[in-house]
Amino acid sequence: MTYQRWTLRTDNTSYTVRLSPDGPWAELDAWGPLGVEDGPSALDRSRRTHFITPADAAPAEYLPYGLRPFTGSELVASRPDGEDRGVWWAFAGAEADEGSLRLAFHDELLGLRTVLHYETVPGTDVILRWTEFTATEELRLERLDSAAVNIPVSGVARLTYLTGQWSQEFQRTQLDLPRGTFTIGSLQGAPGHGYAPWLAVQDGESPAAYGIALAWPGNWHITAEAEPGGSVRVRAGRVPHEGVALLAPGETLATPRLACAFSPEGLDGLSRVWHRYERRLSGERLHRPRKVLYNSWEATGFDVEAAGQLELAKTAADIGAELFVVDDGWFTGRADDTGGLGDWWPDPAAFPQGFDQFVADVRALGLDFGLWIEPEAISPKSRLYAEHPEWVYRIEGRPGRLVRNQFLLDLGRTDVQDFVIETLDRLLGTYDISYLKWDMNRPPTERGRPGAGRVDLDAEHAAGYLRVLDHLRSAHPDVTVEGCAGGGGRIEHATIARTDVVWPSDNTAPLDRLSIQYGFLHAHAPHVMSSWVTDAPGVFDPRPRSLAFRFVNAMCGVLGVGADLRAWTPEQRAEAARWIARYKEVRDVIHHGEARLLGTPEDPSCGVQYDAGERTVVAALSTGRLDGAPLVPGRSARLRLRGLDPTARYRDTATGTTYSGAHLVHYGLPFAWSRDHDADLVVLMRE
Ligand code: DGJ
Repeated sequence: MTYQRWTLRTDNTSYTVRLSPDGPWAELDAWGPLGVEDGPSALDRSRRTHFITPADAAPAEYLPYGLRPFTGSELVASRPDGEDRGVWWAFAGAEADEGSLRLAFHDELLGLRTVLHYETVPGTDVILRWTEFTATEELRLERLDSAAVNIPVSGVARLTYLTGQWSQEFQRTQLDLPRGTFTIGSLQGAPGHGYAPWLAVQDGESPAAYGIALAWPGNWHITAEAEPGGSVRVRAGRVPHEGVALLAPGETLATPRLACAFSPEGLDGLSRVWHRYERRLSGERLHRPRKVLYNSWEATGFDVEAAGQLELAKTAADIGAELFVVDDGWFTGRADDTGGLGDWWPDPAAFPQGFDQFVADVRALGLDFGLWIEPEAISPKSRLYAEHPEWVYRIEGRPGRLVRNQFLLDLGRTDVQDFVIETLDRLLGTYDISYLKWDMNRPPTERGRPGAGRVDLDAEHAAGYLRVLDHLRSAHPDVTVEGCAGGGGRIEHATIARTDVVWPSDNTAPLDRLSIQYGFLHAHAPHVMSSWVTDAPGVFDPRPRSLAFRFVNAMCGVLGVGADLRAWTPEQRAEAARWIARYKEVRDVIHHGEARLLGTPEDPSCGVQYDAGERTVVAALSTGRLDGAPLVPGRSARLRLRGLDPTARYRDTATGTTYSGAHLVHYGLPFAWSRDHDADLVVLMRE
C-alpha cells in the first residue's frame, strides 16, 4: 500500500510520518537511524480492533478526544458552555520544506484548525514538535498536549526518568512498563523538584534510546502508555491552570515545544544528543568563558555585610575565583527569611560606604560582581506588599498560605512584569553587576486573580517569566544569568535557552552531588551545570570525601566555590588554587566537548570523559569502596574510556604515561585509590 509520507532528517536520524490509511490522522511510520524508513513500517499492525476504534490502536502523532475516545488523546476541546464536546477533524493539507513539516486538520463543526509542526534542529539529532490551534469561535481546551510519540517495543518498555525532591533532584530512576499508564508532571507552577520534564524510552535491553523533553517553565505532564499492539505511546504537554485554556476567536494558540531525540548508543548516547542540543540553545553565548564563581550563601547565610563579604572576596580572589556573587540577604529588611522580598534596595546598614563602593571594592580585587534576586517573591512585611497587595496570587475570602514566609507575585500581570523589569534595570543600571542569580522559592497555592474571570494563570506566569528573561538578554546582554528555583525546581529548555547556567540542587555534599549530577548530565549539558565546592561534610551528607573529590566533582560542569574560605587552612587554600588553575586549563574541553558518563555513582569508581580535538579530560571519582591494595593483592581500579581511536596513542600530560586507544577502551585508565586519594583529573593528549 502506498501512503502519503514525509521524512525529516537530522544529522544521524530520520523521522517519517504518514497519513493513516485508516482515518484522518497522521501516524508514525519510522523513527531511528538514517534510512530506517526504508522497509515496511515496524509500527504496522493488524487492523482488527475489538471494542476500540482503529484510531485507538494507531501509532498516531496527534489525535483529539472524539476521534480517539478510549486510549488517550492529546486534545480535548468543547464550546465554552460545554456543548459540542470532542473533535472530529479532516486532513486539511501539508506543507513540507527542508527540515520542517506542517500538517493541518480541520473540524468544521467547531471551526477549529489544528496544525502539527515538526522542525529539525540543525547540527543535532533533535526534532521539535508542537501544535497550533485557531478557531472561528471561542473554544475551551481542556487538554492541549504538544505531541505524542510512538516507540515500538518487542519486549518490555524500559522508561528512564529523573526524579527526586528538594535537595535530591535528578535521581536517575528506571521502570519496566509491560502494560499500563505511567505519568509524571507538576502542578507547582514550575517543572518542580519531583520530576524533570524529560523521559527516555528503550525497548527492553536494546541500547537504542528515544527521548523527549518539554520546554515549559510551568505545569506539565508526560504520560506513557504501553499499548496492546506492542508500542509505547507518550503524550506530553503543559497543563493549564485549573485544567482549562480558552481559545479566543481568531487567536492562534501554540503549545510549548517538545524536543524529540534518538540515539542508537543508549542513554549515554542520548545524553550527548541532549548536550549538543543545549549547546545549540546557548548559541554564541556558549563561547563566553563561564567564570569560576565564589558564592557566599553557605558561608554567611543572611548575615551579609560589607566587611565579611570583602574578606571572603579577597580569599576567593587569592585562590583564583573570577566572580564574586552575593546571595540572599543583601537588601533591606532581610535579616532572615521573614522579610525584605520585593524591596530590592541594598541595606545601608550592611553597606555603610554605599553598595556601589562595595561593588567597586570587590572589583578592585580583580573579580566580577554578581547578585542574587528572587523577582517573583514578596514578603508580607515588605513595603511592596503594603503598596500592592493585589499583585499577589490570592482567592477572595480565602487566607493566603505562606511558604518559606513569602507570597508569590502574579507574574502574569503586565504591571508586575514591568515592576520586575524596572527593578532589574535599576539594579543592573546602577551597579556594576555582571552576573544575576534568579531564584524562586515557593509554588503558587491560592492561585487566583480576583475579578479577572477565567484566566490560564499558569500560562500567563510562564509568559511573564520568559518575557523578563528575554528582556534581560536584550537589554543586558553582557550579564550572565543563573537560573535557580530552590535548587533545581525550574530546569527545562525554555529556561536554559534564556539563561547561561542553572543550579541543579542546593545539595552540595560530595556523594549526594555526584548522584544528582549523574542524573542531570543524562538530560543537560555540562556547560549549563553550575556546581560548587562547599565545606565537608555539608549539611546533608556526612560521608567524608577529600577536597580533591569536591573539586573534581564540581569541575564536571561550571566550577564554583561556596565554602567558608575564612576557615580554610593555608594548605587547603593552596590546594584549591591548584585545582582552579587546572580547571581553567581544561574548561573549554568540559564545556564544548563531547561528554561520556563512565560508570555510575553506585560503582566503586565512576567519572565523566570529555573529548574535544586532541584532548581527552577524565574526571575520575572513587565513591568509597577500596580493594585493600597494597595491603592485600589487588589491582588498580580502571575506568574504561569510550569513543577513542584504538590505533592512536594518548599521553597523560601530568605523568607522561602513554596508552593506546585500544588499551584505554579495553582495560581502561588506571587509578590507585586510597583513603586520601579519591579523585583525579587526567588530561590525555592524542599524539
Ligand atoms: C535557594 C537557593 O537554591 C540557594 O542557592 C540560595 O540562593 C537560597 N535560596 C537563598 O535564599
